[in-house]
Amino acid sequence: MLTRLRESTSDAAVEDRTSEATPKTLDAIGAPVSVSGVAHSFGELRAIERIDLEVAPGEVIGIVGPSGCGKTTLLELVAGLRPPDAGGVSVGGHAEAAERLERCAYMPQRDLLLPWLSAVDNAALALRVAGVPRATARARAGEHFERLGLAGFEGSRPNELSGGMRQRVAFLRTLMAGRPVLLLDEPFASLDAITRAEMQAWLAAALGPASRHTVLLVTHDVEEALYLSDRVLVLSSRPACVCDRIEIEGPRTPDRAAAVTSRQFAELKQRALRSLAEGAR
Ligand SMILES: Nc1ncnc2c1ncn2[C@@H]1O[C@H](COP(=O)(O)OP(=O)(O)O)[C@@H](O)[C@H]1O
Ligand SMILES: [Mg+2]
Repeated sequence: MLTRLRESTSDAAVEDRTSEATPKTLDAIGAPVSVSGVAHSFGELRAIERIDLEVAPGEVIGIVGPSGCGKTTLLELVAGLRPPDAGGVSVGGHAEAAERLERCAYMPQRDLLLPWLSAVDNAALALRVAGVPRATARARAGEHFERLGLAGFEGSRPNELSGGMRQRVAFLRTLMAGRPVLLLDEPFASLDAITRAEMQAWLAAALGPASRHTVLLVTHDVEEALYLSDRVLVLSSRPACVCDRIEIEGPRTPDRAAAVTSRQFAELKQRALRSLAEGAR
């Protein structure tokens, strides 16, 4: 069911490319991301020491690290919202910041839905910004509401939705941007444990084997990272450097309970927690 969400979202992205209202080409298929020797400071404060990362198209990379270590900064560097002090970043082979920004959809830590807009208008925001007429934008975003468990809430304002629903609207808005790279910054951090587990299973399905999006998923939750990713990068405390890279075998499964209780998962979790502890020294 959610695979279809992805496929039809990709279709929407392809359609966007041909629409006169949408600026320039936005590769609908996942783009590679390359981060090479990147460092960043805020004045005297060294946030990122040196990070190297190669992400293949369609790969999901989990990024875990202690609070304040530079995870959000790393996403901003990838998206071209900040220039690195050293090193280089490219997205889809493009190194220029504006070219990178065009290829990334950034879902910030807080959902940042506009409180005066309905759920469907919030989800359609990227289309509206791209110049798609309101009725068309609403119709395109509205097509996904049922699959996201949001049917009937199209006209609701954000304050009338649960935390999980707001996150799904924010995620849909991110997808509707039709960009090949998704930068997700602690998407579930504000949710209670049960909703969070549900949302993780939902995202695992949305990022199933047919997903073409390249994803950088920042979280401070080791289990979330291991469950959702193909590979997990463990960052040290500030200034951030990579202290472990963990490969996760096998496909993502929406059966979260089965995935997180396997022996292999427990071993990877032990390793990640050990690396985190060592990196925090
Ligand atoms: N705009 C800024 N100006 C100054 N310091 C900042 C700014 N943004 C982040 N920092 C600092 O840089 C460090 C890394 O921040 P951030 O990337 O947000 O960490 P994380 O997302 O891992 O919690 C923190 O110590 C934070 O206080
Ligand atoms: Mg952050």
